[in-house]
Amino acid sequence: MSILVTGNAGFIGSHFVEFLLAQGEAKIVGLDSFNDYYDPALKRANVAAVSNDPRVTLIEGDFCDPEQVERVFQDHSPRVVVHLGAYAGVRYSVDHPLVYERNNVGGTLVLLEAARRHGVDRFLLVSSSTVYGQGAVAPFSESAPLGVPLSPYGATKQAAETLGLTYHLLHGLPVVCLRPFSIYGPRLRPDLALTIFCAAIATGRPLPLFGDGSVLRDFTHVRDLCAGLTAAMTAPGAIGQAINLGHDQPIAIRDVIVELERALGRRALVERLPPKPGDMPLTHADLSKARRLLGYAPKIAFADGVLEFVEWFRASRRKS
Ligand SMILES: NC(=O)c1ccc[n+]([C@@H]2O[C@H](COP(=O)([O-])OP(=O)(O)OC[C@H]3O[C@@H](n4cnc5c(N)ncnc54)[C@H](O)[C@@H]3O)[C@@H](O)[C@H]2O)c1
Repeated sequence: MSILVTGNAGFIGSHFVEFLLAQGEAKIVGLDSFNDYYDPALKRANVAAVSNDPRVTLIEGDFCDPEQVERVFQDHSPRVVVHLGAYAGVRYSVDHPLVYERNNVGGTLVLLEAARRHGVDRFLLVSSSTVYGQGAVAPFSESAPLGVPLSPYGATKQAAETLGLTYHLLHGLPVVCLRPFSIYGPRLRPDLALTIFCAAIATGRPLPLFGDGSVLRDFTHVRDLCAGLTAAMTAPGAIGQAINLGHDQPIAIRDVIVELERALGRRALVERLPPKPGDMPLTHADLSKARRLLGYAPKIAFADGVLEFVEWFRASRRKS
């Protein structure tokens, strides 16, 4: 059985491929365009550890291209699709919505179509906590109204989920939608706050803080997410469902800065800036559905995850 992982060169995708290999998966096909949303050299570094593994086939290509996707399905007959590829930045989407619509909605539809034609045992559609927007009540529950997303990114993820669930009802495609919450860990994307804060504190530069630091995020370690995704590949009750994958312990951004200061052994020089549009004031996952359907139980405490993250950050800076 081969598993197709889109976005395999990204932050989460590269961890997920390594996680699957560690579990003994025999055949993984990665499809990534190595786009320049952030430095593609970082993505090449992300896949370096698995690029010579005989169990892994890496394809550089665009899942918005139906012919290319058809070739991948014909050549590799994936039985499971784990669709992690996307434009994933919230703030960038405010000024570049069309790129998000093309990749996150159009690209997802191309993959759903190929999966429908060829048949798959499961299609994991990786969505986002940003589908919860204005009007959603915390902790965010899958059974309550989602509200209106505050960013085009969140809106494209809502649209992609809707398409996935329609394909499940209409064609019986075994789709599972997963909603990760503020994922972090080694190889974190350079556009995310934790990376930007860490670099600022480590180098003594001012740390840009949008708002007063009271925004709360349900930070979730990437290995906990990988365990949840892996469970969703086979869990019997998950098909046709949308499921939160968070940590259920929101942390204020100002406390994140304190944890980073502790881990780096340096004080932050905070530069206060006005709040950015598109950001939710709070994200908080209700995990009861994930626990019930997937046996999901996040294990990595934020303080431990930050220490590991800072260790990785220091090692990566020594290399570059
Ligand atoms: N990082 C988080 O905190 C977080 C939270 C919630 C949801 N997610 C979701 O998880 C997934 C992975 O996020 P990430 O943080 O690893 O982002 P990332 O940007 O590091 O990875 C996404 C990858 O998708 C690839 N890609 C984008 N468009 C493509 C296309 N048309 N064809 C082929 N490849 C394409 C990119 O080159 C990139 O390598 C995304 O779907 C994102 O929306 C992430």
